[in-house]
Amino acid sequence: MKFNIALLAGDGIGPEVIDQAVKVSDAVAKKFGHEITWKPALTGAAAIDEVGEPYPDSTHEICLASDAVLFGAIGHPRFDNDPSAKVRPEQGLLKMRKKLGLFANVRPTFTFPSLIDKSPLKRERIEGTDLVFLRELTGGIYFGEKGRRDNGETAYDNCVYTRAEVQRLAKKGFELAMTRSKKLCCVDKANVLETSRLWRETVQAMEKDYPEVEVSYEFVDAVAMRLVQWPNSYDVLITENLFGDILTDEASVISGSMGLMPSASMGSDIALFEPIHGSYPQATGLNIANPLATVLSAAMMFETAFNLPEEGKAIRDVVNKSLAEGIVTEDLADGAKAYGTKEVGDWLAANI
Ligand code: IPM
Ligand code: MN
Repeated sequence: MKFNIALLAGDGIGPEVIDQAVKVSDAVAKKFGHEITWKPALTGAAAIDEVGEPYPDSTHEICLASDAVLFGAIGHPRFDNDPSAKVRPEQGLLKMRKKLGLFANVRPTFTFPSLIDKSPLKRERIEGTDLVFLRELTGGIYFGEKGRRDNGETAYDNCVYTRAEVQRLAKKGFELAMTRSKKLCCVDKANVLETSRLWRETVQAMEKDYPEVEVSYEFVDAVAMRLVQWPNSYDVLITENLFGDILTDEASVISGSMGLMPSASMGSDIALFEPIHGSYPQATGLNIANPLATVLSAAMMFETAFNLPEEGKAIRDVVNKSLAEGIVTEDLADGAKAYGTKEVGDWLAANI
């Protein structure tokens, strides 16, 4: 098959980790007889510097014309430390999610047998963990009306959801649960928030369409606790934008390194794949960043965007092999020899 893939490397370590995912994807394509054409496009601080905005129309056109988008990371400290900055790299990410209609963010958390003791959590707590968050990505407090009043002394961010927004996300959650262990947890704060009550009521009404799925409703604060106590008791979790942002960072700790977890963002049409970590500015250009989250995002791309599970498995297998053989970056090396970002990528591509 032939694919066009938009390549949005972004900022910080983005370009370095993306390079490795490209290498590995090309090796898989070669092995299975596919042809990938990469379409690089500007985003993030890099795009602000070049054309004055973080998600330019030219980049949007390239994404729309592609079969999938592979994304690195965005964010730069020079914006973080300047609350008055008018344009920020993160705005590009939000604009991109909205304009591409990427309302469902799939963030799996799983453990790697060879890394189980690298997690700060005890082995018996995390063994067997294999859960997926479905985070709503284009609504809620991220996109509600925000502003200042009283001469800037009062600030507000509105959290708004429509029933239709909840339904389309929940539908993906039920469908995903059907392909897994048929357990779905709706994470909300329905004891306090009206939007959460709408979420709960909407999901409850959908239960009858999926009689095999066992649904639980849990408050977000309790989930934050149980997630580190008994993560292996969860399967599919659905939640709104901000809760999902926070809980998926928490969940990434279970696997042992933030540098390991991939993600997919989906809507009705195009899908985007990206590591869940940020741009890690301190590591930029040092060849130390862990490329595995991006490489595993490429695996998700083959599996979900192109419906090529064997190609995805080839990537997952070679990643597992690299971990077992200690071909790892410094975040996982634990005093043993650490390999560079590029060297890990070269090894993976050569061993596909
Ligand atoms: C994420 C990130 C973004 C978010 C930031 C960079 C805007 O933290 O993808 O989780 O909050 O969604
Ligand atoms: Mn986040």
